[in-house]
Amino acid sequence: MCGIVGYIGSKKPNNILIEGLKTLEYRGYDSSGIALQNKEKTQIIKSVGKIKNLEEKIKEENLINANIGIAHTRWATHGKPNESNAHPHKVGKITIVHNGIIENASVLRNILESQKIKLNSETDTEVVAALINYYYQDNIIEAINQTINKITGSYALGIMVEGDENLYAIRKDSPLVIGIGDKEHFIASDIAAIIDHTNKYILLEENEIATISQDNCKIQKDGKEIKKQILETDISAESRDKCGYEYYMMKEIMEQPVLLENTLKPLIKDLTQLPDLTKYEEIHIVACGSAIYAGMIGKTLLEDYANIKVTCEVASEYRYKKVFYSEKTLVILISQSGETADTIAAMRKAKYNGVDTLAIVNVKSSTIARESKKQIYIEAGPEIAVATTKAYLLQVAILALLSYKATKDKNGASIDLAKEIEMLPRLVKEIIDRRESYLEIAKSIYNNNDIFFIGRKIDYAISLEGSLKLKEISYIHSEAYQAGELKHGTISLIEKGTPVIAIVTDKIVREKTISNIEEVKSRGAKIIAITNSNLPSYDFNISVPKISDFFQPILIIPCLQLIAYEVAKLRGCDIDKPKNLAKSVTVE
Ligand code: F6R
Repeated sequence: MCGIVGYIGSKKPNNILIEGLKTLEYRGYDSSGIALQNKEKTQIIKSVGKIKNLEEKIKEENLINANIGIAHTRWATHGKPNESNAHPHKVGKITIVHNGIIENASVLRNILESQKIKLNSETDTEVVAALINYYYQDNIIEAINQTINKITGSYALGIMVEGDENLYAIRKDSPLVIGIGDKEHFIASDIAAIIDHTNKYILLEENEIATISQDNCKIQKDGKEIKKQILETDISAESRDKCGYEYYMMKEIMEQPVLLENTLKPLIKDLTQLPDLTKYEEIHIVACGSAIYAGMIGKTLLEDYANIKVTCEVASEYRYKKVFYSEKTLVILISQSGETADTIAAMRKAKYNGVDTLAIVNVKSSTIARESKKQIYIEAGPEIAVATTKAYLLQVAILALLSYKATKDKNGASIDLAKEIEMLPRLVKEIIDRRESYLEIAKSIYNNNDIFFIGRKIDYAISLEGSLKLKEISYIHSEAYQAGELKHGTISLIEKGTPVIAIVTDKIVREKTISNIEEVKSRGAKIIAITNSNLPSYDFNISVPKISDFFQPILIIPCLQLIAYEVAKLRGCDIDKPKNLAKSVTVE
């Protein structure tokens, strides 16, 4: 949610900032802006819409000579996505960019306005700029400290002070790194934004204030200077390349076979690398969006095969509800970004209650990766399309492997899936390669207004992700239902030609799901069945090889991703950046 990039050095900042913003566009893209500053002046340029609009606008401007600049791409929280609400915001001498939410902004706004301080936008960010400016006499660090004592909520801030040659940064509950270059420094919400310039960075911890000049970066907290470790990222500039694909989403779908191989093979060689789940009596899986749907697949496998009680809860609910913990509770957090605000809060709640936490996470430098007691990295590399594909698939793969290990640990060595894991990448590739059949299905459904997904047990968990993928990138209303539940109300929406995508892999409920398909078929539904067994012939049948229950979902998921992709493409949607969304949801 919102991306920040900043530069200080001897180069002209504008190109560095714009290129950085383009990398951060996944974090929000409803408006953007940059601020450039030299000893005398600050220049701010803002634009509504995608970064390319800002880029065009900058070309028309006479830019000041500056060696310091901050920039921002916005996902609106307070106030409409228009130019006056776009960042940077300048009040008096202070110019800031902000990622996060200031929860007491309206109270503070009233106080400021009662002091006759005029604010020009509807944003919480301008309130912060006004407060820093209000407290600023001659010591900016003191003014920042006084401000953070007044505000509640989350923030990553890039701050420039007119007449001051440094760049300042601070964060709490929103990510921010400081990139270390050769006689230049950067700030960014994500190291990927500055990877063309440096792979060295410092992680700013909560409420540490960075004073950054061309040659130096001083970090302090509560008046004390702090020595920070310089880290190196393994993300390469090439990994952000589209490699000739029209959309990142397609590139990321295509990467899945290789990534499965890279992630699963080293682990299957020695399962003891994975944590022992059998020592827990209850597992809580907590996550958001696709990640919780991956968790629901894990729940089914862990309960059905390893006999471990599992609850699955979306993090935004879990963090505020009454939760019963015992010494034998494990909380599993699943997150691609590792920065999802609600999932972070759920993790901290579990830690506060003294229970073990295990993160299944992609971004190694993220808050969840750093703060969780144990971690399993999914090794998906940077995922740039806003809608997750490869990260979700790898989350499912890790949960399948964990369930398989727990089952073996409990029941002895009666099953051996090493050979199956060996051939999994090839099978996934073959399924991805059937592009024509997905396109044919897409052509037959892309004009519909409603699409339903049905399945039972694990097939229902998979359906939830299929439905989310379709609706978020194609904007077609879609719902996933437990196949047996449809007739308790929703079946009234089924009419002639309504597409129903049915997933039928679970052998125990296979016949039941077939009956449910018949119920909607007899009301005119167009049936697209995805299965690992012989089914009656429907409007479309997609067959995948039958493999163990643990890894079966991995063969169904690419079919759903590709149907969603082809539908969105036929509808002319901006597949990588669906409207209203942002990839990393760092606000609650
Ligand atoms: C959907 C999607 C989101 C994320 C969710 C959690 O395609 O990408 O639903 O899965 O926002 O994000 P992470 O995994 O970063 O915690």
